[in-house]
Amino acid sequence: MKKLDYEKLLMIPGPTMVPNTVLTSMANPIIGHRTKQYSELLEDTVEKMKKVFMTKNDTYFITGSGTSAMDMAISNTVDKGDKVLTITNGNFGERFYNIAKVYKADIIRLENEWGDCAKPEQVKEILDENPDIKVVTIIHNETSTGVRNPIEEIGNIVKDYDALYVVDTVSSLGGDYVDVDKFNIDICVTGSQKCIAAPPGMAAISVSEKAWDVINKTETKSFYLDINAYKKRYESKKETPYTPSVTLTYAMNEALELVLNEGLENRFKRHEKLAKATRAGLEAMGIELFAKEGARSVTVTSAKYPEGIKDSEFRGLLADKYGILVAGGQAQVSGKIFRVGHMGMAKEHHILGTLAAIEMAFKELGCDVDSGIDAAKEILKI
Ligand SMILES: Cc1ncc(COP(=O)(O)O)c(C=O)c1O
Repeated sequence: MKKLDYEKLLMIPGPTMVPNTVLTSMANPIIGHRTKQYSELLEDTVEKMKKVFMTKNDTYFITGSGTSAMDMAISNTVDKGDKVLTITNGNFGERFYNIAKVYKADIIRLENEWGDCAKPEQVKEILDENPDIKVVTIIHNETSTGVRNPIEEIGNIVKDYDALYVVDTVSSLGGDYVDVDKFNIDICVTGSQKCIAAPPGMAAISVSEKAWDVINKTETKSFYLDINAYKKRYESKKETPYTPSVTLTYAMNEALELVLNEGLENRFKRHEKLAKATRAGLEAMGIELFAKEGARSVTVTSAKYPEGIKDSEFRGLLADKYGILVAGGQAQVSGKIFRVGHMGMAKEHHILGTLAAIEMAFKELGCDVDSGIDAAKEILKI
């Protein structure tokens, strides 16, 4: 295999850096997935996952990326012609729309400007006009734009209608406040590789009683993602229906243990502080943030490129010279914004190093920015 460069700092919004104990847990022996040992490992991991989801609802793991759980949520609840409200303000909201399209839903799109968040009152208006909406989808943390949507407020509205509330927390769970039961989330989906800081490749899904009632009346349109198969096997044997990634189960177990040991509250505060420091640093440099004030994510910060800066040159320089990966924009904002992920195990020194490298890279590319370090240090209190 070609020698890989393992030394880059991952300041992208996933996959994120993985703690050493999580990495070494994956060196444990492969055990049979139909053994008592695996069942105990899985059950323990599911129980930890429920604590992080803050739910009593049934919870399952899928060997697959976050999108597999999004697909499972829709393929098990939507029949051809069913009305689905997709709330979109970025690329991942768009993904739910595209999945619903595959299952031939009758889709109502509630679209907000990229960079802004969803508006609860608009959701209520649409639900009042369309009481037959079966499923409402939303992204908590719209990774593509660095926007946080008000999922608690919208959940408080959706709970009074027949519609299921399906929420993607792929880039927020374990970093930003999500309380599945309190927020009235019927189906919550997440992935391993972002705030939970495990390697990519595992997804999780929680399912409420209200969601089971709908699932039981819906024709399942997937074999691998048939949620009833997951339920049946887990309830009878504490197993998964098909061979799981044993290795990733070890990793998830250890990663969730670390999340719970840090404490959810502490973790949310750390993410909030890092986000504030990143924003303050970039603004002090004279760089304009992309997401609107009041709509900004605590796990990823999006910022507009100053005039004349080319995305590939900037990110190439950051990666090759300073060893730091940040992300570019996607779809309609490709080339226009860059995104700094500060999730999972990100710490103060990662933020300071990244801000310093961004400043140096911009200067080298001919853009005379100020320093953002002091502004960030003030927030970080160092
Ligand atoms: C909010 C959100 N949803 C879904 C996904 C898709 O996850 P995956 O790439 O693991 O399938 C991502 C990935 O970046 C995401 O950020």
